[in-house]
Amino acid sequence: PATDEEGSGLAVYDPGFVNTASCRSSVTFIDGDKGVLEYRGYPIEQLAEKSSFLEVSYLLVHGALPTKEEYDAWVHEITFHTFVHENIKEFMQGFRYDAHPMGMLMASVGAMSTFYPDAANISDPDNRRLQIIRLIAKMPTLGAWAFRHAQGKPYVYPDNDLSYTGNFLSMLFKMSESKYASDDRIEKALDTLFILHADHEQNASANAVRSVGSTQVDPYSSVAAGVGALFGPLHGGANEAVLRMLRRIGKVENIPAFIEGVKAGNERLMGFGHRVYKNYDPRATIIKQQALNVFEVTGTNPLLNIAMELEKIALEDEYFVKRKLYPNVDFYSGLIYEALEFPPEMFTVLFAIGRTPGWLSQWLELVQDKEQKIARPKQIYTGERGLTFVPRDVRW
Ligand code: CMC
Repeated sequence: PATDEEGSGLAVYDPGFVNTASCRSSVTFIDGDKGVLEYRGYPIEQLAEKSSFLEVSYLLVHGALPTKEEYDAWVHEITFHTFVHENIKEFMQGFRYDAHPMGMLMASVGAMSTFYPDAANISDPDNRRLQIIRLIAKMPTLGAWAFRHAQGKPYVYPDNDLSYTGNFLSMLFKMSESKYASDDRIEKALDTLFILHADHEQNASANAVRSVGSTQVDPYSSVAAGVGALFGPLHGGANEAVLRMLRRIGKVENIPAFIEGVKAGNERLMGFGHRVYKNYDPRATIIKQQALNVFEVTGTNPLLNIAMELEKIALEDEYFVKRKLYPNVDFYSGLIYEALEFPPEMFTVLFAIGRTPGWLSQWLELVQDKEQKIARPKQIYTGERGLTFVPRDVRW
């Protein structure tokens, strides 16, 4: 503990909250040493294999799996809310041609609070539920429009006859523009990636959502803060860095020299290592299988061979074994996104769509938690004290 006796009193100095639990939560459990990830008690492997993103969203938000009636109603409600107000479309069209899609997403999610002023009434459970449904429903529409905007193409409206992920693919690529968009294996891979990204307990963006939400502002403003946190390269951007690294390595024969450089401390093996997982990130195993499924459709990417060989060598190398460095969620996801013809700027948008139910589940938990206070950490003050102000005409 560090003491700032004249300021805020006794405070534990913990930059980055490495040892501070900021909340109680029953949403997601992680055991990093054993490589375990569970949503509401269900192992991620089972959810990825047997569930769908919308069912997982229901589970996260409600805390239990839906009955058939509840599931049908949930899917119906989400589907019913996929359209966004025409003025939001005009708002997005006002961005520069080269605007980053994450900037567009953050701004348009924040702007939605002005279209739904009813969202400010966070004490009404029905109203909270409506905003949660709106947000999960509209994120793919906003994400797809940000993508079309960067390409200078007209935005595609939602098609509510399609599934959640199928509709997203349709708004991105219009079936006619991508030879892969209508393939079930592609839809399943993307849906699985959304499931794997749906929550990860107190990561930086969930913390941002909670911190802003603790002021009791509407959920659009809170989620916009989450998108902002995710935008940062230390949070949402590592899969893009993996692709750049694989491209730089170029061919399998160059791997040993690259690994030596990593061991010498020249650079990091991107997509390896994790603050929490000191074992295989369970999401990485599932993504690797999905990558193989996607490449069956799209044809293989030479970078996949480099990635697989790199993983094999690293997992047997003492440097990585000793430090418990294993592939993380980002090691293979960028390869899938690239195979689906997403530009790197879109990778984080896909992450944001997947993470939305997690943000909202944590927001809901926060606003219902009687013990929760406004997020207002202490500080250790290191500046001057008690100076005497000298006016400009004397000072200059
Ligand atoms: N390549 C080589 N060495 C590494 C790596 C790596 N990827 N990651 C950690 N190390 C070494 C590090 O040099 C240190 O060695 P030493 O003890 O000799 O100084 C040791 O392992 C511990 O590293 P650390 O930086 O204390 O570990 P951390 O828990 O603070 O960092 C991390 C976690 C994810 C930032 C880090 O592993 C890293 O930079 N990985 C590469 C980037 C990456 O893949 N990021 C995506 C993370 S998953 C995202 C998500 O879950 O949302």
